[in-house]
Amino acid sequence: MEKTAVSSEVAPKVLMGARDAIYARRSVRDYTEQTLSYEIIHSLLEAAVQAPTAVDEQPWAFAVIENKDTLRRLSDTARETMNDVERSIHVPGRKMVANFTPPDDFFHGAAALIVIYGKDMGPFVVADCWLAAENLMLSACANGLGTCVIGLAVSVLNRPEWKKELGIADDMTAVAPIIVGFPSGFTKPVRRKEPQILLWK
Ligand SMILES: Cc1cc2nc3c(=O)[nH]c(=O)nc-3n(C[C@H](O)[C@H](O)[C@H](O)COP(=O)(O)O)c2cc1C
Repeated sequence: MEKTAVSSEVAPKVLMGARDAIYARRSVRDYTEQTLSYEIIHSLLEAAVQAPTAVDEQPWAFAVIENKDTLRRLSDTARETMNDVERSIHVPGRKMVANFTPPDDFFHGAAALIVIYGKDMGPFVVADCWLAAENLMLSACANGLGTCVIGLAVSVLNRPEWKKELGIADDMTAVAPIIVGFPSGFTKPVRRKEPQILLWK
């Protein structure tokens, strides 16, 4: 299908402002079957690329994976190839605790996995990609969508055989895999610690 640019008239309407979206965003791991329109996905990518970027490099590129079979196989490979660090839960100030049970579906039945790739990994490329990721997630939240970073999928996405299957060039590195979909129900907020202020003078 021919994909064309989205005009502002057909882009989804924003339901909430930035501050509300920051506080409303949750990592959603339960989704409805509803698929995402081309317009919605495109509007998320447009929001992502508005992020600040070191020396205006804009070193990001995106893959959108909606195919259920591909997601299933990616999830299976991720589980089979998990390394010791990925199998562990890191408790700050303590050693790794190896007691993490991986989910059956790493992508939690979401309608799409959007992967943010960094091009030619310079010193700030990872930062740029994560800033784009947060823009994407806040924009999704503002439009009534759920998201969740799937850090456990980074290594499988960077395996040569998966890059080959997905047609991703060698100079691209998967940085931020994010699932997106319509939330099924309410996700309880994870309580945040007060900001630790080390210095204010
Ligand atoms: C770098 C990064 C990697 C993450 N990886 C995963 C993951 O692999 N699977 C998952 O279910 N959640 C993952 N998360 C989501 C976190 O568990 C979640 O952000 C955290 O528990 C706080 O909850 P909240 O996002 O709802 O505030 C990841 C988050 C970040 C920032």
